[in-house]
Amino acid sequence: MAEFCVRISVEFVADIIPKIWISCARANKRPFLFNFISMQQYAFLFFCLATFSTFGFLACKHDPSLTPGDPNNPGDPPLVTADCNPDSVYFQNQILPILVSNCTESGCHNAQDHQDGVVLISYQSLVSTVENATENDFHENKLMRMILENDDDDRMPPPPKSALPQAQINLLKTWLAQGGQNNACDENFGGCDISNATFSAFVQPLVQGRCQGCHSGSNPQGNIKLTSYAEIKTVALNGKMYAALTRSSNWMPKGGAKLDDCSLQKIQAWIGAGAPNN
Ligand code: HEC
Repeated sequence: MAEFCVRISVEFVADIIPKIWISCARANKRPFLFNFISMQQYAFLFFCLATFSTFGFLACKHDPSLTPGDPNNPGDPPLVTADCNPDSVYFQNQILPILVSNCTESGCHNAQDHQDGVVLISYQSLVSTVENATENDFHENKLMRMILENDDDDRMPPPPKSALPQAQINLLKTWLAQGGQNNACDENFGGCDISNATFSAFVQPLVQGRCQGCHSGSNPQGNIKLTSYAEIKTVALNGKMYAALTRSSNWMPKGGAKLDDCSLQKIQAWIGAGAPNN
């Protein structure tokens, strides 16, 4: 979709702008920017600019590859930057999956159960149901206060679940330090490269970030544990993983955005190679 957007933009610049320019200039009888601009010409200039910005806006307003058909968070349009800057943390790519995976299982903070009024399925639900959720002060910010709580009885996620892994806490902290915005980036900017679709570089981090919150511990959801390589391999090779990721309703990650096409291709390639521990 990003490619589509870029293509539209290129076509827009190469094709449509000159046409509008020519018709505007023609209507003015001479190229208007090189002459003294009359009131009438001001009106044309305004019209041209308005047309440009409307076209640009329509072409690039939403990038569906970044909010892929997620029925749970319509109207959660992120601030999209094209490629992913390794120094930045992105809400839609990195933070929301942590919340969905660790906090939204049955009985917890999904739209139906909304424990304590808290819903953690989108940026909008986060900021509207959690006090100071984007504040970089961990005492004020209730999300961070609950996650960092030392007392097991008060901590989120609650026992028997363990506390969030340090790596995920660090991502949250960096995201807040960078402004706690609803940002997103295109992980496949420049095309889908499946050559790095190994277990360690791709599958394991994906499962850790998007699946383990529900599929780990003493009471894994659906009775499926996805913590060790052996467990992940079993579900990969018996066909359940790919089927669960691609079904048209109730897909995995449950309650989260469907994985983008490139991620699915990478998983398919890894499974097709026999789900190696590479
Ligand atoms: C918010 C909790 C949650 C998250 C996150 C989640 N799952 Fe699940 N998963 C469930 C539940 C609940 C079930 C059992 C009922 C169902 O299928 O909805 C399940 C079932 C499954 C099944 C069995 C499906 C079947 O048809 O037998 C697989 C495979 C699976 N999940 C894989 C994954 C993968 C892979 C991810 C990460 C990309 C993931 N899940 C993320 C909650 C979750």
